[in-house]
Amino acid sequence: MSNLTIKKIDWQFDGIDFYFNPKQRNFSAFNNMISFMAPGMERYFCKAMKDAEEHITDPRVLDECKDFNRQEMEHSKAHVKHCKALIAKYPGLQEALDASFELYDEHYKAHDLKYHLSYMGGLESAFTPLFGTIINHRDQLFGGSDPRVSSLFLWHYCEEIEHRSSAITVYNHVIGDNRYRMRNVKPMGAHGRMISETLMEIFSRAVPEWDTPDAHLKWADTLPKWTRRMMGLKILASQLPYYPHQAQPLPKYFAEWNRRYEAGEDMRVTYPETPLATAA
Ligand SMILES: [Fe+2]
Ligand SMILES: [Fe+2]
Repeated sequence: MSNLTIKKIDWQFDGIDFYFNPKQRNFSAFNNMISFMAPGMERYFCKAMKDAEEHITDPRVLDECKDFNRQEMEHSKAHVKHCKALIAKYPGLQEALDASFELYDEHYKAHDLKYHLSYMGGLESAFTPLFGTIINHRDQLFGGSDPRVSSLFLWHYCEEIEHRSSAITVYNHVIGDNRYRMRNVKPMGAHGRMISETLMEIFSRAVPEWDTPDAHLKWADTLPKWTRRMMGLKILASQLPYYPHQAQPLPKYFAEWNRRYEAGEDMRVTYPETPLATAA
């Protein structure tokens, strides 16, 4: 068995605002972009991992691959629910959800399994420095948020770090060609930028109170310069062959999140402002 745990949470988002953290409008828009991106991207990842299964000869890698998919499917379901709550308030956002599925489906059809696994291995590796930075600066970025929305993102970001080495492990086991994966870093970045810009453009038309152009580039502007620089360097380092993914330190909040979950706290509204009542 893998060490990954599958947590099913009945998220509730009725009546939420687009700018769920009024003090962090760029960061709110950036997270909403992730929410609309996630259903298409995670379905794409799950299809690629399913295709990879028949090429996996190590039972431990196969377990990891299957549990990775189970986690990603839960993320996808949660983000669809979040997107639908936003669509109920801003109907034009349906176009963003449709675009997410269409663009990632096109990408799946346009490339082969080797490419898909290298895309996943690279992108999932970048998530630990990206989401780790967000988790470690949660008071600044999520402080003052609607807890129903910030709790969704913190759950997802914790699980992305929990399964930080799954995709690269499958790539190394099935393909194992470092130079090929490195060559794909640039096109992978270009594809991510294209999706981000597409979603931002739809947001700008669908949300009447929209005032955050380039939020996908500016979301971290309120963080210290040194933090942003270190995050960028770590993202670059995460793409290098032999980078020790599994050895990356987990944010302290990851353990706290799990303690709260094990203690039976309502994780749908765990952050901010919910006291740690029953954890050890
Ligand atoms: Fe995910
Ligand atoms: Fe993931």
